[in-house]
Amino acid sequence: MSKSKGNIIFSLTGSIACYKVCNVISKLVQNGYEVKAVCTKSATEFIGLTTLETLTGKSVYVDMWERKTALDHIELNKWADLTIVAPATANIMNKFSAGFADECVSTLFLSHDRKKPFLIAPAMNTNMWDHPATQKSVEVLKGWGVKILDTEKGHLACGDEGYGRLLNPDKIYDIIIENLKK
Ligand SMILES: Cc1cc2nc3c(=O)[nH]c(=O)nc-3n(C[C@H](O)[C@H](O)[C@H](O)COP(=O)(O)O)c2cc1C
Repeated sequence: MSKSKGNIIFSLTGSIACYKVCNVISKLVQNGYEVKAVCTKSATEFIGLTTLETLTGKSVYVDMWERKTALDHIELNKWADLTIVAPATANIMNKFSAGFADECVSTLFLSHDRKKPFLIAPAMNTNMWDHPATQKSVEVLKGWGVKILDTEKGHLACGDEGYGRLLNPDKIYDIIIENLKK
């Protein structure tokens, strides 16, 4: 088996944009990166675990307490060269900035090695993005060295137009690769 070009934790949270990151995960795996997917419970409403398991070739972490796929957050963070949360909900960003660790994605955030790149690609309705709670979290997280990717302006799933759309998946892929090289 050839050696991995880089180990990536790919966390998904409860946004309609979950389907958009499947191509990013697929491209990473096809290009020789090893990807372990982690989902919040809400993310599993938007994407099937079978899809992520097939794309990554590995079990997906969802439940901290599930016997076969229990989360060893410390080991997983040691294994990873980079973590990305995409799509990232307003909820998860606000939880991160408050230091909560009550499910897999936030527990991995709080226990990550802050010398390694941690990327967040937000996706949400404009009002959620503009809310002072979310904007404050963005500032707090940036201050801690977390890389918050831009959102795009355009048509949102709720029918509104505005900021909050997930960044183009090809750009997300390129940013992951750039950050792995650093
Ligand atoms: C159809 C639907 C689409 C949603 N899309 C988003 C979204 O794009 N971004 C977001 O922040 N929240 C979105 N939400 C709300 C989140 O799913 C909700 O806040 C949830 O508690 C987030 O949980 P998580 O952060 O643990 O994944 C959506 C909810 C529904 C029902």
